[in-house]
Amino acid sequence: MLVLDTVSYRYAGAAGDAVTKISLDLRDQEVVGLVGANESGKSTVCLVASGLAPRAIGGVLGGRVLIDGADVAGRPIHELVGTVGICFQNPETQLSGVTETVFEEVAFGPANLGIDRDELVRRTGEALETLGIQGLARRDPRRLSGGQMQLVALAGLLALQPRYLVLDEPTAQLDPAGTRLVGEALQALAQRGSAILIAEHKTDLLAGLCGRIAVLQRGELAMLGGAQEVLADDRLEGLGIAAPVQGRLQRRIDALGLAATSIAPEPGR
Ligand SMILES: Nc1ncnc2c1ncn2[C@@H]1O[C@H](COP(=O)(O)OP(=O)(O)OP(=O)(O)O)[C@@H](O)[C@H]1O
Ligand SMILES: [Mg+2]
Repeated sequence: MLVLDTVSYRYAGAAGDAVTKISLDLRDQEVVGLVGANESGKSTVCLVASGLAPRAIGGVLGGRVLIDGADVAGRPIHELVGTVGICFQNPETQLSGVTETVFEEVAFGPANLGIDRDELVRRTGEALETLGIQGLARRDPRRLSGGQMQLVALAGLLALQPRYLVLDEPTAQLDPAGTRLVGEALQALAQRGSAILIAEHKTDLLAGLCGRIAVLQRGELAMLGGAQEVLADDRLEGLGIAAPVQGRLQRRIDALGLAATSIAPEPGR
């Protein structure tokens, strides 16, 4: 379990805390959504949960981040990288900058963890296929569209198969088809055992994916509860969050006993 225990964080040089007293746990195999208006602190919570803040970017942390009861501050960074994967809001910052093809880029993370070659090739191929980007395998990762880069960054994380995955608006630059593929891929990943914290404005995607949802307001945790319950709460709009439209429809379809085809992974994947 990954736990944020009354976490506050102040960016280096900032006058005040960006987030204050956030307590949130990410249980094994759970998908937790993180929503909130712009500047409410979603990205900051992602940086703290992944262990990058303050370790990689400075600033001041209050409270603790724990994995299986142990403070991440005391864990070696190479160990943390294999345990908690993060996908940034801007995919360009995610690319390694040292690979020449998308295939190498996706394989880069697991290759650095010393995974054997056959397994590496298998995982990389599978990740590309899951996100429908096999066709990009030989392309230069620096010459892709924002949406393609986002899918490549996500494929890298799928190939890494970390136990915890922190995603900051992973579908921000994707069209509905790309968003659906990401939803399916994350669902499959969670079923395989990864716990996922996902910041998103697209509440329709969260409705099909998350068990629980946390709502941030000006750096504080305003609500935390079951996804259905939180997404149906009247206060959402006042907090700058658009309630899901398709989610409601999907729930009606589910209630009628029809398969949730838009989110369920295909058998055998
Ligand atoms: N590098 C930084 N230095 C100082 N303050 C920052 C920095 N990054 C973010 N902040 C501040 O921290 C607060 C939370 O910002 P954050 O980026 O976490 O919000 P967000 O919910 O991710 O917003 P968005 O929806 O726009 O991505 C804001 O007040 C923001 O101005
Ligand atoms: Mg953000």
